[in-house]
Amino acid sequence: MKKKIIGFGASISTTSINKEFAAYALGFFPEYEVELVDLNDYEVPVFSVDCERENCPERAKAFLAKLQEADVLVCSMAEHNRNWTVGFKNLFDWCSRLDLKLLQNKPMLLLSTSPGGYGAQNSMNIAKTIFPAFGGNVLTTFALPKFHENYDRIHGIQNEVVLADFKNQVEEFKNQLNK
Ligand SMILES: Cc1cc2nc3c(=O)[nH]c(=O)nc-3n(C[C@H](O)[C@H](O)[C@H](O)COP(=O)(O)O)c2cc1C
Repeated sequence: MKKKIIGFGASISTTSINKEFAAYALGFFPEYEVELVDLNDYEVPVFSVDCERENCPERAKAFLAKLQEADVLVCSMAEHNRNWTVGFKNLFDWCSRLDLKLLQNKPMLLLSTSPGGYGAQNSMNIAKTIFPAFGGNVLTTFALPKFHENYDRIHGIQNEVVLADFKNQVEEFKNQLNK
């Protein structure tokens, strides 16, 4: 039976470029059963301790259960104001109340992209720094800058230098997985 790899963009934008980049990255794992997850399927109310007293939303539990199905994760971090998007942080907060190790020690390829030249690395760096405290097992990272210039919706990464770098990181990730 094939192992399963789940990918998602850390955004609730219906046109998320990070979801698109995560989907593209999944295409480099033909040896896996792949699933692209849309965070909109796990829409939860804005977290507050008051709201939590009422109930924990079933969709937070469902997101944790979805992550549990994975052997490997691909997460692409979107960036708003040099930080995580509110939609992702909100789901993350709810899930952390159910299980502080919400990322469940799944080996993770951590990505990011944005239209800007830094490729959402602020958001990715925060994730890289704090995910380990939440059961994150980040093996490799890659930030794709200038999404709209470097990426074509049909053909993927167009810049040859950037593509070579991306492929190297995917290979490095697979090497780490096999260690
Ligand atoms: C409120 C807001 C703040 C943003 N701040 C940043 C930023 O700090 N860094 C950055 O690279 N892009 C920033 N952007 C642009 C986003 O990277 C861009 O909207 C991107 O498409 C978001 O990722 P997503 O499509 O996966 O949701 C911002 C966009 C918005 C709407």
